[in-house]
Amino acid sequence: MEQLSTKEAMALEAKYGAQNYHPLPVVLSRGEGVFVWDVEGRRYYDFLSAYSAVNQGHCHPHIIGALKAQAETLTLTSRAFYNDQLGQYEKYITEYFGFDKVLPMNTGAEAVETAIKLARKWGYEKKGIPANKARIVVCQNNFHGRTITIISASNDPIATENFGPFTPGIIAVRYNDLSALEEVMSEDVAAFLVEPIQGEAGVYVPDENYLKEAYRICKEHNVLFIADEVQTGIARTGRLLASCGNCSCPDRNCSGTPEVKPDILILGKALSGGVFPVSAVLANNEIMEVIRPGNHGSTFGGNPIACAVAMAALEVVREERLADRAERLGKIFREKMEEVIGETDLVTLVRGKGLLNAIVINDTEDSSTAWDICMALKENGLLAKPTHGNIIRFAPPLVMTEEQILDCVGIIRKTLLEFRVD
Ligand SMILES: Cc1ncc(COP(=O)(O)O)c(C=O)c1O
Repeated sequence: MEQLSTKEAMALEAKYGAQNYHPLPVVLSRGEGVFVWDVEGRRYYDFLSAYSAVNQGHCHPHIIGALKAQAETLTLTSRAFYNDQLGQYEKYITEYFGFDKVLPMNTGAEAVETAIKLARKWGYEKKGIPANKARIVVCQNNFHGRTITIISASNDPIATENFGPFTPGIIAVRYNDLSALEEVMSEDVAAFLVEPIQGEAGVYVPDENYLKEAYRICKEHNVLFIADEVQTGIARTGRLLASCGNCSCPDRNCSGTPEVKPDILILGKALSGGVFPVSAVLANNEIMEVIRPGNHGSTFGGNPIACAVAMAALEVVREERLADRAERLGKIFREKMEEVIGETDLVTLVRGKGLLNAIVINDTEDSSTAWDICMALKENGLLAKPTHGNIIRFAPPLVMTEEQILDCVGIIRKTLLEFRVD
């Protein structure tokens, strides 16, 4: 295929593609580790990691090796038949995260949908909620994906406007507000669906005791605690799972936590290292057994490539101790960014956990300053994207070295100090 210029590639997308994204004007054609290259051969640090999907770095040889080997052997059987990878993967992932069973899907949104279906069915069959009365509690400003049911749980007008009618049975409460959660608990509530850190909303880290107490409230009311770790999971926040954040266990790569053990765990993105769409819903038998043949499925869910790739991706996380690395580098990053903030009025704060961080720009939410800073960062060799309004998320691959993160801080510092608001 011919090598297009940046301009040509962008023109094709503008003409033939639905305009459902507003990308930074950079056209990438290659990636390796923490770097990506554009079609003109310019190299950039990837500071987004495909929204935390490429935690293991671009084109990790172990994951790509698994992909290639499986692609040459068997790609898809559907679940009409067994395949020799699925069972091995199911054993691997359930032992890895400490659950009895997994339900394999492809995208994050599908996994969230699956978790909601599972929780409703559990609500009717195990909790005894009257027919069609089950409710799911979510948090305001959440991001769980883009399907109709999921956007029914959203309060973002851009995501919802003119997409109604919406799915009923969803109650939204303020994030990080335990009394609000307590107040809506009732016999009809099947589950509480929560992001351990609200990533898309702008990397909002809740109070130290929030998840633990929310979990306790759920237990008190026989309500399932569903952790959407599509973005925060798989070592991103310095723990294998962000919902283990308060656990005193010394092993950052362990998922067992006595304090918060989600009843349903949702994973996606980095479950494949960004190589293939792989998502998963994990739960124990008491919950997962409500799903029976014909209740739910997906042609591609649990396909042999996904299984082989996900096992390799999880092996990399453990072997390269990526949770430790995210924790250590994240601390360095925030410390250094605090120093930069001391030198400029342009940024008001840095927040985050592990290598999921954000800076808040000192301007109105509807200003273009965050976007303009991202454009300037691009010119200086680092790719990042605003989340909401005036917030820029920084989420590099976790395979970064200390030297590289310091280099990146240098780029961000230089960009911010040179930046002039028009
Ligand atoms: C917390 C969370 N849940 C679900 C999703 C949806 O994942 P996908 O885009 O793969 O459907 C995302 C995507 O950003 C997410 O951040």
